[in-house]
Amino acid sequence: MDTQIDWGKLPFGYYPTDYNVRCEFRNGQWGPIEVSQSDTINIHMAATALHYGQEIFEGLKAFRGKDGKIRIFRLDENAKRLRESAKGLLMEPVPVELFEEMCLKVVKLNERFIPPYGSGASLYLRPLEIGLSPRIGVKEADEYLFMIMVTPVGPYFKGGFKNTNICIMRNFDRVAPLGTGRWKVGGNYAASMMPTHLAHEKGYSAVLFLDPKEKKYLDECGPANFYAIKDGKYITPKSDSILPSITNMSLMDIAREMGMEVEERRIAVEELADVSEAAACGTAAVCSPIGEIDDLDTGHKYIISKDGKPGPVTTEFVRRLDAIRNGEEPDTHGWCTIVE
Ligand SMILES: Cc1ncc(COP(=O)(O)O)c(C=O)c1O
Repeated sequence: MDTQIDWGKLPFGYYPTDYNVRCEFRNGQWGPIEVSQSDTINIHMAATALHYGQEIFEGLKAFRGKDGKIRIFRLDENAKRLRESAKGLLMEPVPVELFEEMCLKVVKLNERFIPPYGSGASLYLRPLEIGLSPRIGVKEADEYLFMIMVTPVGPYFKGGFKNTNICIMRNFDRVAPLGTGRWKVGGNYAASMMPTHLAHEKGYSAVLFLDPKEKKYLDECGPANFYAIKDGKYITPKSDSILPSITNMSLMDIAREMGMEVEERRIAVEELADVSEAAACGTAAVCSPIGEIDDLDTGHKYIISKDGKPGPVTTEFVRRLDAIRNGEEPDTHGWCTIVE
C-alpha cells in the first residue's frame, strides 16, 4: 500500500497509478490486452475521436471491504452500457467479457492504490473507447482503442454529508430530444460545461436539466440522475435524453426493498413543490442531497429540505449502498464482483 497518500483528502482528480490496460480493434478483431506504464497515447491527428467526437466512456469504482476483499460495483452493467454507447455512435462494441477481464486486470495491477477500508475513498475506473482511423469526411472509424485507466479518489463529501442547492435554466440544452443523452458520450459533457460553469458562478452545485423538447419535465442533474421522494414514493424521470444511471437502477431496487413504490415517469417541474426529499445520484456520490432548487427563469425557489439536513430516505440509501460495496452487508443482488 502506498502510505504517502492521504486517502481522505484525495480530490476527484487524476492521481497517477502504476499501470493502465489497452486493447485495439484492427482488421475486424480485438487484439491482445496490453499493459502499459505510460499515461499518454499516440494517435493519428485525423482520428475520428478528435474531429468527430467518436469517444465514449464509463465510470465505476472498486472498494476495499471490511473483510479485506476488493469489490467492483456492477461491473456487468457498466460493460453493457458501454456497448449501448458504442452502438449509438457506430463504434465497435467492446465484448462484455473483454471489458470485465480488463477491469479485473487493471485493478489487480494497481492494488496498492486501492484505498483502505473505512477511508471513504475508492479506486475509480475510467474505461474509454475512441475511434482511431484517420478521416476527413464525416464517417465512422474502423479501428478503435479501448483502454482503462484507474485513479484513487477521495470521499465525495469531505466536509460531511450535506445538502447543496441546484438550479434550473432554460437557455442551454445538454443534449437533443432523441440525441446522444442516453449514451455516455464525451460531447454531452462538452455541451454541459458552459451551463455548469454559470451555475457554479452563481453558487449552485449543479444544473437540473429539463427535457430539451418541451422544457416542462425534469431530465437529469449535471453528471447524475435525479430522484425525489413524493408521498413516500420514489420518483425519477423517464426520458429518452438521460443516461440510464446504474446507481439509480440500484436505488430503485433498494427503495422497493424498503417498501416504497417506485415510479419512473415524466416529472413536471411544478411537482418539485410537493416533494419531501430530492437528490442527484451517480457513481461519484451515490446520492447528493438537494436543499433547494431555484428556477432561474421564473424566479421560483423550491425549498426541498425544511430543516437544512439530508432526508432520512437519502441517508439510508447511502448507508445501504455503501454497506453493500464495502462488504458490511450481504450482497443479495450479486452486484459486486470480487477481485481475486
Ligand atoms: C450524465 C450522467 N447521468 C447519470 C450518471 C450517473 O450514472 P451512474 O450511476 O451509472 O454513475 C452519470 C455518471 O456516470 C452521468 O454522467
